[in-house]
Amino acid sequence: MLETRELTVRFGGHVAVNAVSCVFAPGTLTAIVGPNGAGKTTYFNLVSGQLRATSGDVLLNGRSLSGLGTAGRTRAGLGRAFQLTNLFPNLSVLENVRLAVQSSRAGRHWRGFHLWSIWSDHRELTQHSLQILDQVSMLEKQALPVASLPHGDQRKLEVALLMALDPSVYMFDEPTAGMGADEAPVILNLIRALKRDPSKTILLVEHKMDVVRELADRIIVLHNGTLVADGEPAAVIASAVVQEAYLGVAPRTASAQDAAHPHPSLSPRAVRSDAP
Ligand SMILES: Nc1ncnc2c1ncn2[C@@H]1O[C@H](COP(=O)(O)OP(=O)(O)OP(=O)(O)O)[C@@H](O)[C@H]1O
Ligand SMILES: [Mg+2]
Repeated sequence: MLETRELTVRFGGHVAVNAVSCVFAPGTLTAIVGPNGAGKTTYFNLVSGQLRATSGDVLLNGRSLSGLGTAGRTRAGLGRAFQLTNLFPNLSVLENVRLAVQSSRAGRHWRGFHLWSIWSDHRELTQHSLQILDQVSMLEKQALPVASLPHGDQRKLEVALLMALDPSVYMFDEPTAGMGADEAPVILNLIRALKRDPSKTILLVEHKMDVVRELADRIIVLHNGTLVADGEPAAVIASAVVQEAYLGVAPRTASAQDAAHPHPSLSPRAVRSDAP
């Protein structure tokens, strides 16, 4: 159970996240929506420890995480997609995934310095890493240095590394942004598969409302850093506050294609990234 209590951060005079109290239960995918600049990414940064809160608290299974940085929170079970800049760009895709799997098991599986166990552990780690790469359709890229990957593959690798950590809480911030038509479905399928695991808590920031409608068990809406709606998807989407938020950020350059878009989008950027 992940919980934020009155979580707040100020940047100078600007309150980017304003006293957000929310509980996220295992087995639930919560979509976090809201216009550009609403504070969604900042909220994730506060939960994952990348940013220090001005006030309020983050709790996991009743335990306060406030004293922990990002590494401590990762060990506690919070999974935020890696920034690939933090990885080893000259090591291969497989080596990076293997390191992530290994780091998540450090301390859990240590069996001492026996050559046999080191070798069999290594083999098992490799098998598990290949399995994860298969799930993100990147098996054939396993030997390439991470630095050489195109953007879509880098984003898929970020998700692979997140899975390698096997966290109890998954935080996805626009996971398919910038991905091509053949890559986005791979990530969405992975999230669908994760959803079947009742022990996982999933938080998804997503502008594409068709994705939100399909995947969300619950939607929360942030607006100017404040939680303004929270509930069952159909009701939240129909609520006045969401309709207003949508209207408040209508695309600047409305086109025939936007008008033909079957679902309202929460931001101009979502419309652009949906465009071919
Ligand atoms: N480190 C920072 N210093 C100052 N202001 C910041 C910082 N990080 C975020 N902000 C401000 O906080 C507000 C919320 O930004 P945030 O990136 O969280 O929005 P968002 O909901 O993720 O938007 P988007 O949908 O565009 O990704 C914005 O006004 C942003 O400029
Ligand atoms: Mg953001």
